[in-house]
Amino acid sequence: MAYNPFSLENKTILVTGASSGIGRAIAIECSKMGATVILSGRNEQRLQETISQMQGKNHKIIVADLTKKEDRDLLIEQSPNLDGLVNNAGLIKTLPFQFIKYADLEEVMSVNFTAPTLISAALVKKKKLNKGSSVVFISSIAGLYGVTAANSMYAASKCAINGFAKNMALDLAGKNIRVNTVNPASVETHIYDEGIFTPEQLEEDTKRYPLKRYGKPEEVAYAAVYLLSDAAAWVTGTNLLIDGGYTLN
Ligand SMILES: NC(=O)c1ccc[n+]([C@@H]2O[C@H](COP(=O)([O-])OP(=O)(O)OC[C@H]3O[C@@H](n4cnc5c(N)ncnc54)[C@H](OP(=O)(O)O)[C@@H]3O)[C@@H](O)[C@H]2O)c1
Repeated sequence: MAYNPFSLENKTILVTGASSGIGRAIAIECSKMGATVILSGRNEQRLQETISQMQGKNHKIIVADLTKKEDRDLLIEQSPNLDGLVNNAGLIKTLPFQFIKYADLEEVMSVNFTAPTLISAALVKKKKLNKGSSVVFISSIAGLYGVTAANSMYAASKCAINGFAKNMALDLAGKNIRVNTVNPASVETHIYDEGIFTPEQLEEDTKRYPLKRYGKPEEVAYAAVYLLSDAAAWVTGTNLLIDGGYTLN
């Protein structure tokens, strides 16, 4: 077999939000590295489309809306023992600060913070994360440095994840379970489809990147593959920045 320290052979990895964008790319790249992938999301048809682009067999779909307790319970129950967990599902909702209501905060925090943390905790409690396993949160540059107009709820949810992940990493080190976050700047996915930014604003924004473009979903997936692999066996509690040089300015 060819030398490959990033191999995911014999690993089973759960990816949430695998029906689109970054999560889809992570599922595909993990399969190419030899993993068996459990794909989760709300839209079964788009999860099937992801599977059609993957290598290998035995991948499994668990349809779940992460805002619903019964769906989270089902996801945990139907999940096999795991070597990797990628908490990727997320949403963005921009709103100028003074218009924020409880329901807005709940919507953003439930998907971006509450669900991934509760799912991770339940999987540990049920002993479904094997020794040596790796938990990866797909956070954001907004959780580290990124400040953009009307983005306070999203930023708060990602800052919360980054703080949570570091403390979780310390709590789980004794079980040899590693916990890290990946923090991308803007990546070309459907997350901006809601019309939050005009195409002109997005085009203008790319000029602020020293590498003069947004990222591609697979460029985030490669970081997740690294953190899931045994190549990262000594890496825990890291917030890994992937930003095309954005924060150099
Ligand atoms: N794109 C960027 O520029 C960027 C930058 C930094 C960080 N991120 C982060 O990367 C992650 C993926 O974003 P993306 O850009 O790939 O977005 P996307 O294309 O909109 O995909 C979002 C994914 O989250 C899932 N999801 C949303 N709400 C859900 C819910 N209630 N229950 C279950 N699944 C749910 C969606 O699945 P269903 O529709 O099937 O439910 C979908 O697969 C997010 O955490 C996001 O914050 C993105």
